[in-house]
Amino acid sequence: MKINMVEQNFNKVETEVLIIGVPEHPENTQGWEDFVASYSNSFPEWVRSGQIKTDYKQVVKMPAFNENGFERILFIGLGAKRKLSEDRLRAVFATVGKELSDMKASSVAIWPTPFTNEKITDEDVAFIAAEGIGLGMYKFAGYKTDSNERDVSLEEVSFLSDTNQDEFKAAFEVGSINAQAVNEARNLVNMPPNMLTATEMANYARQLAEKYDFEIEVLGRKEMEEQGMGAILAVNKGSVEEPQLIVLKYTATDTWEDVVGLVGKGITYDTGGYSLKPRDGMVGMKGDMGGAAAVLGAMQIIGETRPAKNVIAVIASTDNMVSGDAFKPDDVITSLSGKTIEVLNTDAEGRLVLADAVTFAKQAGADYLIDVATLTGGVIVALGKDKTGALTNDEAFFEEFMHAATETGEFVWRLPLTESDKKRLRKSEVADLNNSPGRDGHAIFGGGFIGEFVGDTPWIHLDIAGTSDASSAHDLGPKGATGVMVRTLATVVERMANTDINN
Ligand code: BES
Ligand code: MN
Ligand code: ZN
Repeated sequence: MKINMVEQNFNKVETEVLIIGVPEHPENTQGWEDFVASYSNSFPEWVRSGQIKTDYKQVVKMPAFNENGFERILFIGLGAKRKLSEDRLRAVFATVGKELSDMKASSVAIWPTPFTNEKITDEDVAFIAAEGIGLGMYKFAGYKTDSNERDVSLEEVSFLSDTNQDEFKAAFEVGSINAQAVNEARNLVNMPPNMLTATEMANYARQLAEKYDFEIEVLGRKEMEEQGMGAILAVNKGSVEEPQLIVLKYTATDTWEDVVGLVGKGITYDTGGYSLKPRDGMVGMKGDMGGAAAVLGAMQIIGETRPAKNVIAVIASTDNMVSGDAFKPDDVITSLSGKTIEVLNTDAEGRLVLADAVTFAKQAGADYLIDVATLTGGVIVALGKDKTGALTNDEAFFEEFMHAATETGEFVWRLPLTESDKKRLRKSEVADLNNSPGRDGHAIFGGGFIGEFVGDTPWIHLDIAGTSDASSAHDLGPKGATGVMVRTLATVVERMANTDINN
């Protein structure tokens, strides 16, 4: 996407759609009335009479009167100006993005001033506009053969402003990098499971590695057997697809130290295994690699922005199937860490593959760990579909993480993990751990199980079972994959590159 800066010569804007923000009492925004009056003397009056709406996120579209050089005007209501925040603006611009995608616009122009207040600068508007419009425009292409949709993408965004152009463009650039990465993650999650196999996910990671100069290592069945990754191998046993442990390294410093590990659950399809899911519970389980997608999306942002922090990404990918070879409840398996696990439920497979992935990340030098997973239905029961559940063993690390989540506007809520919870995880007659202590509190037990493999390493677990997939259109995108945590993971890495969280 190209960005242009156009001097405030309002009368001649060469673009398809002009976006005009309409705050409550627009007459209080310096220059607003002159600005709109330069297109039509009626506009200020139409605001007063309510034909152009000032309500938050209300859209009014109209054809333009040609000689100005653009075809349409889109008014977007902003509500009270003092209430505008980055979060609210992101949703505003995502609404604009949805409209632009419906209109099939290829170019737009934005006058930033109405979107600013004491806290929000012109540069903030550039960043949020790029991010919000990019997220709002997203649609999964799908596989319909009779689609006659005109294939138009937004190619050019112009800002009518004479503020510092370099900073402005840089802010815009970061916003569109973020949106693109989230949308790539959404594509992965929306892809059907016969197409996005573990092998295909590895190929996708290879492309990322190539593009961004990451080191890549992919372990298949043979390498896993050599290393003793009994947990991911057990989950893969019923499958004809090869399991893949995908490892990406982004090196920012001369020595491989102070490494952040991002670990993703990449179950390309979760039937539940012999603890089979009921037929309605199985539909949608193509999205059980949302954690992997979040990690890959974050790596894309990291590859683009190149923060001064070493990062290792580890993705454990396989499907969870049934066959004569599949693992069974009552099986006892030995994980890469050496810890033994009694399988009580083959549908609690995410924690198993993540146990090995986390152990691998630690062995590869991770000093901080964040695992991301569509881990439990329990987190949806506890927090609903719009909040990511978290566990941690480190207050300072979690605090830093929450700053990042606040910055990106992705809601995260921490769950407790007590000593008595840990006791229940360790309750087994025959092994060190069991993978399913029962239904009550099972969001905690799912994450807590992974915590058994991190040792003293500062660790955060993110359960995105609810947030990875939206059941209907929402503020920042359509029904389906959300790309949740892509931006927050990249932001926490960026923050850790700039601060020492131990002080
Ligand atoms: N992938 C599921 C969790 C899930 C549920 C993700 C709904 C997205 C939407 C996970 O592997 C699973 O099956 N979890 C079980 C755990 C139980 C057997 C302890 C669950 O949540 O029911
Ligand atoms: Mn499962
Ligand atoms: Zn699963």
